[in-house]
Amino acid sequence: MNVLLTGGLGYIGSHTCVELLNAGHQAVIADNLCNAYGSVLDYIEQITGKRPIFYECDVQDRDAMERVFTENKIDAVIHFAGLKAVGESCRIPLAYYRNNLDSTLTLLETMERHGCKRLVFSSSATVYGPDNPVPYREDMPCHVATSPYGWTKAMIEQIIRDYVSANPDFSAVLLRYFNPVGAHESGLIGDDPNGVPNNLMPYIARVAGRQLEKLTVFGDDYDTPDGTCLRDYLHVVDLAKGHICALDYAAERTGVDAINLGTGNGVSVLELLHTFIRVNGVDVPYVIGGRRDGDLARCYANAEKAERVLHWKTEKTVEDMCRDSWNFIVKHSK
Ligand code: WQD
Repeated sequence: MNVLLTGGLGYIGSHTCVELLNAGHQAVIADNLCNAYGSVLDYIEQITGKRPIFYECDVQDRDAMERVFTENKIDAVIHFAGLKAVGESCRIPLAYYRNNLDSTLTLLETMERHGCKRLVFSSSATVYGPDNPVPYREDMPCHVATSPYGWTKAMIEQIIRDYVSANPDFSAVLLRYFNPVGAHESGLIGDDPNGVPNNLMPYIARVAGRQLEKLTVFGDDYDTPDGTCLRDYLHVVDLAKGHICALDYAAERTGVDAINLGTGNGVSVLELLHTFIRVNGVDVPYVIGGRRDGDLARCYANAEKAERVLHWKTEKTVEDMCRDSWNFIVKHSK
């Protein structure tokens, strides 16, 4: 298949592009580089021996998207493009609603004009909100998000569901990610956010790399075994492979289906931190601070459906995640 990856030079998009090319598909990338680097295209080529067709453009740009679909026969789309920082979304909500919703509407309108009927959407466990019991299951109610970012994911899921209701021959898979971490084993691509990372693993890695002074653990007084929050961390390469399985699944059916991509296990902040220190033999100074607004004590997946319908489950361990995250920092600090 010839697959368009919107936001395909980003952290998850680039890893998915590698697995897509390794699986024998072709890739077209549309990315405005607002949170990605053009050099990632060279790394993808270095890893796979193939260079995706690349358009530096904003997915909100109708003319640019028309050009992508006119110049390429697109069989399916994986839609990664979007702003994704939870805290930032609370500070600039209008930018998040405008960007994330407009890009999706423009994409769907362009797909319709060109008869492209297969979509995999990058959704998030954040749609489960604060009231569902863990482990989260796909049939649980998803009507209360905890940030404008989370609301955009929930709204886009609804936009896609409504579109599929009106176009029953369309096929959409909504992948609800838990906590993707780690990097490709080459160390060439990885989680490289602009500025100071919001997320735990890249923050730990940069403290280990002496790019940041120390880690603050946001609270150790939660109702969990060691008092720190539990999350379902999964290796980004496992996550990427889940997208290839989702493409195949979308090709076999019509309609819309939501699927968790997670391990099904909760790992605490301190467990991840100490595993990182142990497997890499590095020092990561840290202090215990207050809770971060909006954090849930526990967030992890019921991972059964992905194994049943996608024949996918995670293979890499927490040690692999920590080792590959550090390798990415080492490879890029030279
Ligand atoms: C994990 C744990 C923090 C940083 C977010 C989004 C989610 C998805 C993944 C996009 C929490 C603790 C963190 C730090 C810390 N993103 N922490 N010190 O919040 O589970 O999920 O990223 O799809 O939608 O909500 O991930 O890595 O930010 O936090 O103690 O410096 O690490 O309190 O318990 P989170 P995270």
